[in-house]
Amino acid sequence: MKVIVCKDYEEMSWQALEIIKQELLKRPDSLVSFPGGDTPLGTIKKFVSAVNCGDIKIDRAKFVSLDEWVGLGKEVYGSCQYFLNESLFKPLKYSFAETFIINGAADDIEQEREAHEKFVEKYGPIAVSLLGIGLNGHIGFNEDGVDFSLNTHITPLSEKTKEVMGKYFNTEHKLTHGITLGINQIMEANVVIVIANGSHKAQIVREALQGEVTNRVPASILQNHPNCYFVLDQTAASNL
Ligand code: F6R
Repeated sequence: MKVIVCKDYEEMSWQALEIIKQELLKRPDSLVSFPGGDTPLGTIKKFVSAVNCGDIKIDRAKFVSLDEWVGLGKEVYGSCQYFLNESLFKPLKYSFAETFIINGAADDIEQEREAHEKFVEKYGPIAVSLLGIGLNGHIGFNEDGVDFSLNTHITPLSEKTKEVMGKYFNTEHKLTHGITLGINQIMEANVVIVIANGSHKAQIVREALQGEVTNRVPASILQNHPNCYFVLDQTAASNL
C-alpha cells in the first residue's frame, strides 16, 4: 500500500489524476471505474479537462460505474448516475469506447446486477479503480460485514450509510439497498486509488491502513492489494 499525503484537496485530486493518467497511457484500451460522492469531484473535473485538451485519450477505454442506490434513477439529484452524468459525461468532449452506468431504478435490479458483472467480466479486470471511503470503511457499497469473495451484488445499506446519505439528497427517498462492484473485482484491479479528505475521515483511514484486515472495515482488505494508493489530504492523514 502506498500512502501519498497531500497538502490539500486540490493536490489530492491532482495526484489521483496523475495515477489514472499513467495507467491509461500504459493501457489505452483498459477499463476504468469511478465512484460518486463528494470526494471524487475534483479528480473527475481534472480528468475531464485532461481528456478535453487531449492529454488523456479515452476513445479505446471503457468505463464502469462503481455503485448506485437501489431505487434511484438518472434523473434523481444525488444518484451516482446523476453525478456521473453531470460531472463526467456531459462535460466530456469525447466518449469512452463502451460504458456501463448502473441504473438503480431498473425494473429488474437482479438483471442489472448481472449485466454489470458481465460487463466487468468482458472488459476487465479493471485497470484503475478509483474509490472514496465511507465513515464505516465501506468502499462502494461493500458495507461492514461484507463477504470479500463477492463480485457485483445488491446489499442492505449499513446504519452508518443511512445516517450520512442525507448529505446527497432529500431523505424522502426511503432507500434500503445499494448495488455495487464487489471486493473480488476491486482486488483484481491493476491499480486501486482510494482518495480521502477532511478530518472526519482521519479515524477510518487509520483503521483501514493500520488496523487489522477485517470485513468490519472493508477498506482494510486493500492492505493485501499489490498496487493500491491511498491519496489523502493532510487532515485525512492526521491520525496515521
Ligand atoms: C459512492 C461510493 C461511496 C463513497 C463513500 C465516500 O459512489 O461508492 O463508497 O465513495 O461513501 O463518500 P464521500 O466521497 O461523499 O465522502
